Amino acid sequence: LVTEVRLRRVLDSRGNPTVEAEVTTESGGFGRAAAPSGASTGEYEAIELPAEEAIAAARERAVPRIEGQVYAGDQRGVDAALRGADGTPDFSAIGANSAVAVSMAAAKAGADMLGAPLYQHLGGAFRGDSFPTPLGNVVGGGEHAADATDIQEFLAAPVGAPSVADAVFANAAVHAAVADLLAERDIPAAKGDEGAWAPAVADEEAFAIVAKAIDRVEDEVGFDIRMGLDVAAAELYDGERYVYADTERTTDEQIDYIAGLVEDYDLAYVEDPLDEDDYEGFAALTDRVGSRTLVCGDDLFVTNTTRLREGIEVGAANSILVKPNQIGTLSDTFDAIELARANGYDPVVSHRSGETEDTTIAHLAVATDAPFIKTGAVGGERTAKLNELIRIEANA
Ligand code: PGA
Ligand code: ZN
Repeated sequence: LVTEVRLRRVLDSRGNPTVEAEVTTESGGFGRAAAPSGASTGEYEAIELPAEEAIAAARERAVPRIEGQVYAGDQRGVDAALRGADGTPDFSAIGANSAVAVSMAAAKAGADMLGAPLYQHLGGAFRGDSFPTPLGNVVGGGEHAADATDIQEFLAAPVGAPSVADAVFANAAVHAAVADLLAERDIPAAKGDEGAWAPAVADEEAFAIVAKAIDRVEDEVGFDIRMGLDVAAAELYDGERYVYADTERTTDEQIDYIAGLVEDYDLAYVEDPLDEDDYEGFAALTDRVGSRTLVCGDDLFVTNTTRLREGIEVGAANSILVKPNQIGTLSDTFDAIELARANGYDPVVSHRSGETEDTTIAHLAVATDAPFIKTGAVGGERTAKLNELIRIEANA
């Protein structure tokens, strides 16, 4: 039984307060986890409250329903208690940040009691034996950096890597190669919130630089590295058009533009190419690009089975981004992954732009046999997950 749930404020990678939870069990199990936080958040995400408020509300409403009431290993029970304590569909009473921290901490306490790694506890005995390919954010802008690219994330996708470790090092090498290419062109660049380079260049130049960086690293490592994007198009859409620094595009033009990019750069992955309400536009694009490219819904689906079901009905995508804090509990997250899988959608587990040293998503990706995980390329809060993946692979 869970004997104690503690909540406190800790720092996230942007220097903002976030919620950390600790769960202790009667038999001595212990788990600790912290909530991440988005900047380009989807309109339909569960609600993040200010950390202090979320902690006070969770202490009052949720903690009494968990302490002495549920087993840490009973993830459905813990998460049902959180849902019941909150009573709203979007965790606006206790905050999805409190909910997800407690949910993840309970999972870790459950794993600790079994003496098993978290991925084993979450994935069970019949888990597959594949490992996720990390998508590395190497150039970015949008809501993650001022005066940089319009497209939020240019990603390296080392699809040919023989191991997670090789893929992780390849992404870091692409990140370094981008720095070299920027220096060669005398383009100064700071880093955005996720550690990607954030140069003040047009998207067209960013494509050229990333493509070249990938070529260089491919030559070194000898396996296939493709490119991916998170367009985060909801942030560009003004209700009528997609507004870029140098041009505007109608929905049809946006679909043509993205389909052209998929072809020109052989994109392995395109996330949120259209607005978060445009299921039809998503479907039209998905129809055009074919199965060589994942069209992934982040702000579109927000890890929510109701929204995913709508998307499945119209063929909106072939992939879903999975962020536990978008929905608030690990049980809801697993439900979204299961629904996706049953309908041929690939789950891609993801960090947020505001992160901590928490490594839960690395275990979640392994537990669910996700083909990809998006968790940056460099920077301590990103390497926490990447290095955890290297360890899991080495010890599996
Ligand atoms: P966010 O960005 O964490 O700021 O929402 C990540 C993403 O859009 O994938
Ligand atoms: Zn996104």
